[in-house]
Amino acid sequence: MSKRAILAGIGGYLPNLIVTNDELARSLDTSDAWIQERTGIRQRHVAGEGETAAFMGARAAEAALRDAGAGPGEVDAIILATSTPDQAFPATALRVQAALGVTRGFAFDLAAACSGFIYALAVAEGMIRAGQARGVLVIGSEVYSRILDWQDRGTCVLFGDGAGAVFLHAARDSGDPATARGVLSTHLHADGRHGDILYVDGAVGRHDLPGTLKMNGPAVFRQAVTLLAAAVEEALAANGLERGAVDWLVPHQANLRIIEAMGKKLGLPPERVVVTIDRHANTSAASIPLALAEAVGDGRIRRGDLVLMEALGGGLTWGSALVRL
Ligand code: ACO
Repeated sequence: MSKRAILAGIGGYLPNLIVTNDELARSLDTSDAWIQERTGIRQRHVAGEGETAAFMGARAAEAALRDAGAGPGEVDAIILATSTPDQAFPATALRVQAALGVTRGFAFDLAAACSGFIYALAVAEGMIRAGQARGVLVIGSEVYSRILDWQDRGTCVLFGDGAGAVFLHAARDSGDPATARGVLSTHLHADGRHGDILYVDGAVGRHDLPGTLKMNGPAVFRQAVTLLAAAVEEALAANGLERGAVDWLVPHQANLRIIEAMGKKLGLPPERVVVTIDRHANTSAASIPLALAEAVGDGRIRRGDLVLMEALGGGLTWGSALVRL
């Protein structure tokens, strides 16, 4: 009997400090009205001194394990998606491993910018199917506040900090996709030719250039609308689903206009599209698991619901995952 990866638990962590658009407008030539109209963002959480990628990732992972009723002894692997690791090495995933008290298995970081969670979920699911691991923590943890140019109004208003996690566990595949829980499909894409429309202009050890995020917003917007629409079509076609067949869209939260366009593409009413960008802004690899944690936590998404997730990020990288909760 083949195996399927089920989402046994979901959790999230957000820093205590909230910064509103009005607060940013005190030191930046911007306004709450501009930010809300162009992006849907009202506020973001910003990490304090001790709220590192490892700290937040560990808190989100603990919440996901608690939700699953599982302990550290059931964790075979930790895959942590981040573009803002605390150190070049050890990988942030290993700091999380130590913080959780996991003493076996393996752990590594994965870098795919805002698509990091989808990439990490796909890798974890493949490992579970292959029998390399039974319990895998998939974490997205980001501290973009540390790579933003706080004088650049075109980028610094867009991002926030936070972490989200799911605990994937192996289950026997019933073979019937109409009822089977777990990850039903993942599709990953990358096109390095677009590397210069969204990037960080620095590198580890470059003391002269610690690196801040640079983005050609309109160019990324154009790519996102086209590539994510194709990714949504691809996921529906691969699973033999019609428009309107999924119960929920849990998208990466980069821009409300992009999110709404994808909801329409799927034939979903707005209340079936999970939106957190208004309160979290863009938390990159953490945005999807944070949104999932919120919508499962408040009872909107229930066991058995069919959920499509999609993301696009720097690279460019993009992809989708279809999951039955
Ligand atoms: N406040 C006020 N004005 C601003 C601000 C601001 N915060 N930022 C830019 N402007 C100005 C610009 O200077 C420009 O002024 P000008 O016309 O006088 O030159 C004007 O507003 C329009 O700027 P645009 O960049 O063309 O604005 P646009 O409508 O495209 O919105 C945005 C910008 C929100 C960034 C949009 O392009 C977007 O969401 N892009 C996609 C982002 C995305 O999906 N990123 C992917 C994931 S991120 C990751 O992977 C790390």
